[in-house]
Amino acid sequence: MLSTRRFLQLAGLTAATLMLAACGKKAEAPAPAPVASAPAPAPAKVYVVGTDAAYAPFESQNEKGEIVGFDIEVVQAIAAKAGIQVKFVNTPWEGIFNTLQQGDRDMVVSAVTITAERKQTMDFTDPYFDAQQLIAVKETSKVAKFADLKKLKVGVQTGTTGDEAVTKLLGKTSTNIKRFESTPLALKELESGGVDAVVADNGVVIHYVANNPGGKFKMVSDKEFVPEQYGIALKKGNSELLGKLNQGLAAIKADGTYNQIYTKYFGAPPAAAAPASAASK
Ligand code: ARG
Repeated sequence: MLSTRRFLQLAGLTAATLMLAACGKKAEAPAPAPVASAPAPAPAKVYVVGTDAAYAPFESQNEKGEIVGFDIEVVQAIAAKAGIQVKFVNTPWEGIFNTLQQGDRDMVVSAVTITAERKQTMDFTDPYFDAQQLIAVKETSKVAKFADLKKLKVGVQTGTTGDEAVTKLLGKTSTNIKRFESTPLALKELESGGVDAVVADNGVVIHYVANNPGGKFKMVSDKEFVPEQYGIALKKGNSELLGKLNQGLAAIKADGTYNQIYTKYFGAPPAAAAPASAASK
């Protein structure tokens, strides 16, 4: 009689032998014909989007350091329609357009006004937002129109359309123009009394004043300021990407996505037929 233990030993041996045999057999079997493997799909391109994220409500960083805002959601929605992937990278305004030239960024979304001058060195999508310059002053200020700034100290963000307008009014060599790296820095200077006024995009000024009631600001608009439109900037000649973005933009305008995003940030859908100049009076 086999002891249970001996039985198990034998059984184990048998099993092991069988396994070995099986393995051997397998090894001897003709190698399966190599399956023509499909070429590994190229990893989808991720387009790098530069944005100066100190420009709420268009682009800013939340407490978690994530880049959020109207521009961000518009580009994400466009990308979804265009079937492309995007990634946002915080990029200082100064030099932001050079990153397109150098190929470090595929596009710039940064509340960028489409201007004839910029169009000479970069391409723009169709416009996606109407804007205009707006003056911020202290509540006690006597400023009632743009021309009143002529003899005052005026803060602007360097190289913006606000800078351009103020430079035109005060003169190229004026030492009364105080240029800042960001628009919030200019507005902080207004709060502390370092400048008498700030000229910047209406959306950003309105947002800042509303969120800083302690600053005791008021806003002054002026018809003198020309209507502006924002576009997404690309390297000149990048017509493939430009086509995709314009197609995506048209699609989000057509299906209501654009209006939904606009309403989320500005409280109401854009006034459809009204020109930009009429919208911000
Ligand atoms: N719209 C103005 C311009 O194009 C100001 C844009 C500034 N944008 C920003 N994210 N800092 O000159």
